Amino acid sequence: MYKSLILLVCTACVGLSTAQVFGGGGCPHAVPQASFNLTEYLGDWYEIYKFYAAFESGQSCAKANYQIKPDGHIRIFNSGFKDNNPINATGDAYIPDLKNPAKLKLRFSSLAPYGDYWVLDTDYTDYTLIYSCSGVLGITHYEFAWILARQPTISAEVKTKLFNKVTAMGIDTTHFTKQDRSNCPDGL
Ligand SMILES: *[C@@H]1O[C@H](CO)[C@@H](O)[C@H](O)[C@H]1NC(C)=O
Ligand SMILES: *[C@@H]1O[C@H](CO)[C@@H](O)[C@H](O)[C@H]1NC(C)=O
Repeated sequence: MYKSLILLVCTACVGLSTAQVFGGGGCPHAVPQASFNLTEYLGDWYEIYKFYAAFESGQSCAKANYQIKPDGHIRIFNSGFKDNNPINATGDAYIPDLKNPAKLKLRFSSLAPYGDYWVLDTDYTDYTLIYSCSGVLGITHYEFAWILARQPTISAEVKTKLFNKVTAMGIDTTHFTKQDRSNCPDGL
């Protein structure tokens, strides 16, 4: 009965949620970083780990570039390969509340609602840990998480530190999959 209710609710979820990471109950208690310096956050980031996301499935060599726009929003440019073909997506992000500067909002289509993009931990020069969770009526939730880095790899120490951090927040690290960077062209 409970299971079929979840199924019913999820069938009604927004389209892109159909193949995401789902969990029972509400969202884990993720805590964004207290301070956030957007200027230091801009520039290139390589994708290292991510939660499974249907809209990114089959991608390799994913990379992001963040630039400030004249209106103070952030231009997100994601690029990579899908089945050996170059692909890209341009998004828009902003900080709705400067009292919570690491809680960003992000969308990739002017028709779509903004979703959460919370920076849980970044040192700006090496890694960033991003998390997003949407609750559905308190019954279930779906999650995205990414670890990006300034270089195409992260050290074992950073990986352990970030995995421990999300585990302590109740987020399941077994959902992380490593981005395929085995055959990337130069600069990706
Ligand atoms: C953010 O970082 C930039 C570049 O390092 C620096 O100039 C600026 O003072 C920082 N802003 C704050 C509020 O710390
Ligand atoms: C992004 O993708 C579009 C459509 O495939 C392509 O026309 C464009 O050149 C790409 N942009 C960059 C900067 O790679």
